[in-house]
Amino acid sequence: MTNKTDRIIIFDTTLRDGEQCPGATLNIDEKLVIAKQLARLGVDIIEAGFAFASPGDFEAVSKIAKIVGTENGPVICSLARAIKADIEAAAEALKPAVNARIHTFISTSDIHLEYQLRKSRAEVLAIAEEMVAYAKSFMTDVEFSPMDAARSDPEFLYQVLERAIAAGATTVNIPDTVGYTTPSEFGAIIKGIIENVPNIDQAIISVHGHNDLGLAVANFLEAVKNGARQLECTINGIGERAGNASLEELVMALHVRRQYFNPYLGRPEESQESLTNIDTRQIYKTSRLVSNLTGMLVQPNKAIVGANAFAHESGIHQDGVLKNKLTYEIMDAQLIGLTDNQIVLGKHSGRNAFRTRLKELGFELSDTELNKAFVRFKEVADKKKDISDWDLEAIVNDEIQQAPDLFRVELVQVSCGSNACPTATVTLRTPEGEELTDAAIGTGPVDAVYKAINRVVNVPNELIEFSVQSVTAGIDAIGEVTIRLRYESKVFSGHAANTDIIVASAQAYVNALNRLYSALQKQEKPEEVSAQKV
Ligand code: KIV
Ligand code: ZN
Repeated sequence: MTNKTDRIIIFDTTLRDGEQCPGATLNIDEKLVIAKQLARLGVDIIEAGFAFASPGDFEAVSKIAKIVGTENGPVICSLARAIKADIEAAAEALKPAVNARIHTFISTSDIHLEYQLRKSRAEVLAIAEEMVAYAKSFMTDVEFSPMDAARSDPEFLYQVLERAIAAGATTVNIPDTVGYTTPSEFGAIIKGIIENVPNIDQAIISVHGHNDLGLAVANFLEAVKNGARQLECTINGIGERAGNASLEELVMALHVRRQYFNPYLGRPEESQESLTNIDTRQIYKTSRLVSNLTGMLVQPNKAIVGANAFAHESGIHQDGVLKNKLTYEIMDAQLIGLTDNQIVLGKHSGRNAFRTRLKELGFELSDTELNKAFVRFKEVADKKKDISDWDLEAIVNDEIQQAPDLFRVELVQVSCGSNACPTATVTLRTPEGEELTDAAIGTGPVDAVYKAINRVVNVPNELIEFSVQSVTAGIDAIGEVTIRLRYESKVFSGHAANTDIIVASAQAYVNALNRLYSALQKQEKPEEVSAQKV
């Protein structure tokens, strides 16, 4: 293998590093839904999890390996510390994948060696070499990461990388674990590696970085100019602390500015060929799916996928765009899969039209999922005359989300208004099939509904985030509610869409409570789960 590949490899770590942010915890079925969408998006490698971390993580990696890791599918990867048991778990979980990779890592910065690992450089050097060789005994595709590489002594970094490559690493990944470097520094690190690691031509150079200073994407682009050919990133940039480098920003920067980047990859400047394998038209859909399932909202001004990313508010800008889009737009919204939001379906539309439109939007639903979604579509169409693509997407994402179906909202009724005491009555179906009704008063209708639900479910929790967004404009728009609640040290999210935002609020809350309830049933102690994460 050589670093002279003339395209950029996209390594998606949404399901591993992305899932580590508080509240983004996904269940196995949700991970599978995301993995299938990542495959449709065209990522080269999916880091499906950290198999050793918990039985749930192991099962998720294994299931994704089996279902998504097909002949023409992406490479499926599991993270593993440079420890035999971790590597064995990764290899076992990855067995069903046609193309699999073990990603093993150990810290190399002095600060990590002294305070976290309590090991000498010589020990780390030996472990890296031995564990890469051990991973290699299970499969040919092995990635090695010197954690906190960006703060490591370059001379030591070169030695570790040389030994890891000699032991069989086919990709060496350079993490800026704490998001500390600046673009020129990061570029210089990659350049230094190419110039000082004698066997570097036998491995792909990858980069991994966190966004603590908001520089992760800029750092990666500088790394590309200096020879990095694999980018480790997440959808919507989710991840530990300030997140990871965002996939959509990297891919679109490389696409929109390909003439600028072409020469760095040995291509003629004018080449129009894509620099990645990503189907950019799947970007928006993937972003929405990840946001809905993780409960991590996308800020409106987020580049590429934020609600305002293609909106022009200023009169001067609007005037320019109407005359010629290029005056203020550097890319067409359709490139990321945003349609013009044309009205496509209404209450007279049949199942066939519904199925066809969903297919055009890239949804592949099973018959059961389609039936469920169609019933919801009809309900919404009764209340809302025009159903846009965005509405369809909200309906489908809501219906096929994989939160455990334990408590179910059967009835929500509120009474509120000026000079009134907000009062709510709710009926929930319990996991045992019993219907329980309770009522409460609150500071507003949502507060009253949540208090009434709490009286039924009776699991103490703290609501830490509540947000309502309208899917489209108009008074009859579908409202999407996303909530996050905390139980001890763990955060659970819930999401629901409905034309009635009070009903959506109730459903989103019950959705989050179901996740909490299910975790309690499995007696998954929250502290133990998070302690295992890297
Ligand atoms: O941020 C980091 O260093 C990591 C490594 C495990 C690659 O996530
Ligand atoms: Zn990371």
